[in-house]
Amino acid sequence: MYVLAINGSPRKGGNTENMLRKVLAPLDEAGWKTELYQLGGEPMRGCIACMKCWENKNNKCILDTDKLNEVFEKMLRADAVVIGTPTYFADVSTEIKALIDRAGMVGLANGGVLGGKIGAGVVAVRRGGGIHAFDSINHMFQISRMIIPGSTYWNLGYGLHKEEVLNDTEGVANMTNLGENIAWLGKAIKPHMDSFPKVENLVAEG
Ligand SMILES: Cc1cc2nc3c(=O)[nH]c(=O)nc-3n(C[C@H](O)[C@H](O)[C@H](O)COP(=O)(O)O)c2cc1C
Repeated sequence: MYVLAINGSPRKGGNTENMLRKVLAPLDEAGWKTELYQLGGEPMRGCIACMKCWENKNNKCILDTDKLNEVFEKMLRADAVVIGTPTYFADVSTEIKALIDRAGMVGLANGGVLGGKIGAGVVAVRRGGGIHAFDSINHMFQISRMIIPGSTYWNLGYGLHKEEVLNDTEGVANMTNLGENIAWLGKAIKPHMDSFPKVENLVAEG
């Protein structure tokens, strides 16, 4: 079992990364292969709506000038994808928005190839707007037919400065619980992932 955690914060060692590490710890204990991928700070660009992914159907974005295809290839191999972001003006970071739009579209263009995988969003927030960022991530998971496990609260952790989120006891516990729930869910559905329904009738507008 393989879980890919994507850190959308450009601030390495910051609150988002610390929360993702809390999610990964129980998965590591349960014997999963865990990977923390640093996407924040990379020069990611947005979708250019060329729709070439719908013509090429090769699990790739035609814009091969940044990390999107590398991340998407990892997403394809993962059983669970955890997307972490800081809250920026009540939404996800720019890097995560680029990932959502382009990985989401390439996935749909290729027959909803992310379907049946586990997806979880994790959000670092100082004060407000975290739920909106959380929703932005979950919208991509849901249209991609991914399975979203819950936790003991919505997956937010509170803090401004680096590592401050570790003082948010409830937020940290929520991350640990999320990791445990992903481990349980993954074990339960792994034997059935290959039989997840295929779809033929996806439309290009997403
Ligand atoms: C450009 C920018 C915009 C931000 N917008 C918000 C916001 O809308 N709401 C909020 O509560 N915090 C906001 N913050 C604070 C961060 O979300 C918060 O410090 C978070 O813990 C950072 O996570 P990190 O350490 O992983 O980068 C913003 C920070 C930056 C740099």
